Amino acid sequence: AADTADLLPQMGFNNWNSTHCRAEFDEAMIRGIADKFETLGLKDAGYRYVNVDDCWANWQRDKDGHLVPNPKRFPSGIAALADYIHQRGLKFGLYSSAGTSTCEPLQEDRGFPGGLGHEKDDAKTFASWKVDYLKYDNCNNQKIDAHKRYTDMAEALRSSGRSIFFSMCEWGENKPWLWASKPPVNAGSWRTTGDISDNYASMLKIFKENVVLDKYAHLGHWNDPDMLEVGNGGMTDVEYRSHFSLWSIMASPLLIGTDLRTIKPEALKILLNKDVIAIDQDPLGVQGHQVRDADGIHVIVKPLKDGGRAVAVFNEGDAAKDVTVAATEIGLKAGGSYTMRDLWAHTDAKGDGSIKTKLDPHATVMYRIK
Ligand code: GLA
Repeated sequence: AADTADLLPQMGFNNWNSTHCRAEFDEAMIRGIADKFETLGLKDAGYRYVNVDDCWANWQRDKDGHLVPNPKRFPSGIAALADYIHQRGLKFGLYSSAGTSTCEPLQEDRGFPGGLGHEKDDAKTFASWKVDYLKYDNCNNQKIDAHKRYTDMAEALRSSGRSIFFSMCEWGENKPWLWASKPPVNAGSWRTTGDISDNYASMLKIFKENVVLDKYAHLGHWNDPDMLEVGNGGMTDVEYRSHFSLWSIMASPLLIGTDLRTIKPEALKILLNKDVIAIDQDPLGVQGHQVRDADGIHVIVKPLKDGGRAVAVFNEGDAAKDVTVAATEIGLKAGGSYTMRDLWAHTDAKGDGSIKTKLDPHATVMYRIK
């Protein structure tokens, strides 16, 4: 049986948000990223997966119908890359699409081979390369029923002889939260929205779509509001702290999407905030519930294994605001006495369980209350 750690939201890196399919995406880059997991303290903070996204494959399958890597980007092959990553105590993820070809490039006449109709063969290939994680996209799906397409790959992975985490990327089109966590699909996570981009409006929109789906998430099966943009430069540090806080209180996968070889100290500090990561990774395995959405203020409460609660208070608006949250709104007894840890200031204080704060535009405060 899997231990609880394997059932918590996946943490790691994926190259998509930083490189898309540009030429810089190649095996040297991915190896360089894997090296940084240790030296930057990411491995120690719990980040495990090094995941490769679209455009890793060659244009054509080989003469036997097997997937092969693009020889320019991955001249040493995928198995060698997986070995390199495993040697560092990390896990390796790969990408495909439940369609005739993957999502990039978008021209119809030319695409990278997708998994539709090749599920068994591709799953065997992935297992033979020692892949630990498959992100399975939704492009060029020929309008075939999503439940069938994702079931076929899920079953192929299960009979591949290797345990492979199944990350569904169906963008929430067929309400995957209603079926993806159950047999026969049993996905570890499912995307709930379209793609994130590196700006505040995109992050906000995705947060709002994902936060209302809390009741569908549980241990081993998570809503995925897409990968992190922290560090990519399109948001302020205040906004990136909100992004990281909100994703964590929603028990989201924490997949870093910035180039760790050139990351700035402030962005790294956000990604390494262990107090916030501990909320995402809390073993009770509950996605935070939004208890207030009014006047641009969002209050999200997440029950924790130790009996305490995490609370995020987020000001979506463009003006600073004074905000009060009563203990009872957080689900705590009025008149009680609590330890309240500020998860960005890393300070403890005694309190009555209520929060009084002045929030800058787009800012979030986060507490752990016990
Ligand atoms: C889709 C997915 C993205 C990314 C790209 C790759 O848009 O949603 O996360 O994988 O495809 O082409």
